[in-house]
Amino acid sequence: MEIKGLSAIVTGGASGLGEATARRLAKAGAKVTIFDMNADRGQMVAADIGGHFETVDVSTADNVSNALAASAAIHGEARILINCAGIAIGEKTVGRDNVPHDLDRFKKVIEVNLIGSFNVIRLATSRMAALEPLDTKERGVVVNTASVAAIEGQVGQVAYSASKGGIAGMTVPIARDLSGLGIRVCTIAPGLFLTPMMKGLPEEVQESLGASVPFPSRLGDPDEYAHLAQHICENAMLNGELIRLDGAIRMAPR
Ligand SMILES: NC(=O)c1ccc[n+]([C@@H]2O[C@H](COP(=O)([O-])OP(=O)(O)OC[C@H]3O[C@@H](n4cnc5c(N)ncnc54)[C@H](O)[C@@H]3O)[C@@H](O)[C@H]2O)c1
Repeated sequence: MEIKGLSAIVTGGASGLGEATARRLAKAGAKVTIFDMNADRGQMVAADIGGHFETVDVSTADNVSNALAASAAIHGEARILINCAGIAIGEKTVGRDNVPHDLDRFKKVIEVNLIGSFNVIRLATSRMAALEPLDTKERGVVVNTASVAAIEGQVGQVAYSASKGGIAGMTVPIARDLSGLGIRVCTIAPGLFLTPMMKGLPEEVQESLGASVPFPSRLGDPDEYAHLAQHICENAMLNGELIRLDGAIRMAPR
């Protein structure tokens, strides 16, 4: 799929991996709409790349539906959806003094990361389905963001890992569901990337995390994630795949 001139939605595009992807797709000539809850940063990034911003909670049906309609009215129907919105918490299944994991906190992470990704996928691809196919017979492409924690979650990552494992697990059935429509779906499982979340950690912690990556021994640059997301959009044979982007790291228990 040639990106130039296409309308693209990037959730979580106000920050980190989503921001880098919004910037890269805009540079490649896409008309980008950012869906994010952080209106200040989202509007700033959108203005910077000549794109559009919608305040969206990805886990809310009406919110996403309205934002897709608003984006289509401005940029045309999106053929590209990049799902980067996500949250992370740290809490063990059974914590200090044998206190069980808070159930509402567990549900919240599943709601934003897993249900939120699915919510945007179902609504965005139902609109892509009505588009004429391109020369390549494709109608659209979806890139999701899991994590290496989908496979080797660390101590305290049960909610986050469950949500990301769900994203990894739904990749093949969604690709199969949408194959008749010419809509591809892939999921990237990033390792450790230098996003605002990581930048909040002390420098020595960042360095030691980077050193734990076999090669290259450093934290990933968000543009390296964006580069893969762009490639998935462009390469029509990539479909139904979970791709680790992690410098060969395999996370230890803690
Ligand atoms: N940074 C890493 O090392 C890393 C590693 C593996 C996976 N990931 C995943 O990549 C994605 C992006 O992470 P990041 O590091 O760029 O984080 P980030 O916090 O910099 O960006 C996440 C964005 O999502 C938005 N968001 C959160 N909840 C939302 C909601 N309900 N609706 C709409 N927007 C919402 C936030 O406002 C923020 O702008 C996440 O899904 C994260 O789990 C990151």
